[in-house]
Amino acid sequence: MSVACASLCASMSDVSPSLLVDNIGELVTNDPHVGASTLGIIRDAAVLVIDGSVAWIGKSGQAPAADDVVRVDAAGSAVIPGFVDSHGHLVFAGDRANEFAARMAGQAYSAGGIASTVRATRSATDAELEANVVRLVTEANASGTTTVECKSGYGLSVHDEARSLRAAVGHTDEITYLGAHVVPADFIGRADDYVALVVGEMLDVCAPLAGWIDVFCDRGAFDVDQARAILQAGMERGLRPRIHANQLQHGPGVQLAVELDAASADHVTHLDDADIDALAGSNTVATLLPGAEFSTRSAYPDARRLLDAGVTVALAADCNPGSSYTTNMPFCIALAVRDMRMTPGQAVWSATAGGARALRRTDVGSLLVGSRGDLVILDAPSHIHLAYRPGVPLVRQVWRAGVAVH
Ligand code: NIG
Ligand code: FE
Repeated sequence: MSVACASLCASMSDVSPSLLVDNIGELVTNDPHVGASTLGIIRDAAVLVIDGSVAWIGKSGQAPAADDVVRVDAAGSAVIPGFVDSHGHLVFAGDRANEFAARMAGQAYSAGGIASTVRATRSATDAELEANVVRLVTEANASGTTTVECKSGYGLSVHDEARSLRAAVGHTDEITYLGAHVVPADFIGRADDYVALVVGEMLDVCAPLAGWIDVFCDRGAFDVDQARAILQAGMERGLRPRIHANQLQHGPGVQLAVELDAASADHVTHLDDADIDALAGSNTVATLLPGAEFSTRSAYPDARRLLDAGVTVALAADCNPGSSYTTNMPFCIALAVRDMRMTPGQAVWSATAGGARALRRTDVGSLLVGSRGDLVILDAPSHIHLAYRPGVPLVRQVWRAGVAVH
């Protein structure tokens, strides 16, 4: 077992040592009742984690005594909750570097490239797929991510979707069945037959392995009627809905998300006023994926327009080999601030508490008594530096449930 896997597996267990992080210059709690601004910032703070959960938060030097405590001096640096990356496609083989290079030379992105990753994924062994998930979760931990969602979607057969989901079990916090990523090559011209498989035998095998169901509702993927049928079939089996919507063009995917009370509508690059009104009046989070606009050289959605309308916004990395091959949430924060018109504080909130809302989790994304002990010490005095110093590795130390993962 690798060191990375050892820490990951330990972090999934119930037992972890106590941890006291003291001398924190700026603590982001994400609770405006306990500190300043929406980020709930406390200065000169300390955090105590016992048995994997936050047991106490207060002033530096005033923590209660605890047994067998590991003491860490943050030396005046900022501490934030671990990032909650609510959208990732971590089960795949191969890469598409040449497709990226061709795009940077002027070619447009389309859903068609997914087929080459499907071929590589089907050819990979179970062990290779699992190793890819572990590699990417470890990489994500190193840039401060402590909660990871992972989708299938590059298998697109009963056998390959099921083993894709199995590759993520035990390695990621949330698992999503995305049999409806695109119609695979062996079903071209027979989309209805493929939808029948996705809601039939494939769902039978995959539903017990996942907590969520997702559909890519867009040009070159599934239309709104197919998406509704697929999400409803999943919901009948106890899966909760989320959706890829309005990435490549404007369409009805966002309205469908609200209609079904999906936890999140993701990408949402092309929105009209009715979409924004619908989101603002709903419990559906708008999850923005700036890595995808970066890597497909597309226009960015306007996060400020969403925020001003009262929509809850999350930021996620969308790690996948086609449209966004990054696990780095600080990079996404910097893009969202520069190109989606978020303030640094809004972007940090969306990458932590916003991601938690998109996964309907209350135990992660904030640092409050009872929260999972997911902490990041930055090599910076303030969360603002995550956008202000783009590309600089500012993540010094990371704990998940009180266990060091970086
Ligand atoms: O979220 N948009 C659909 N699916 C992925 C990209 C898939 C790919 O290009 O491999 C996404 O961006
Ligand atoms: Fe995606």
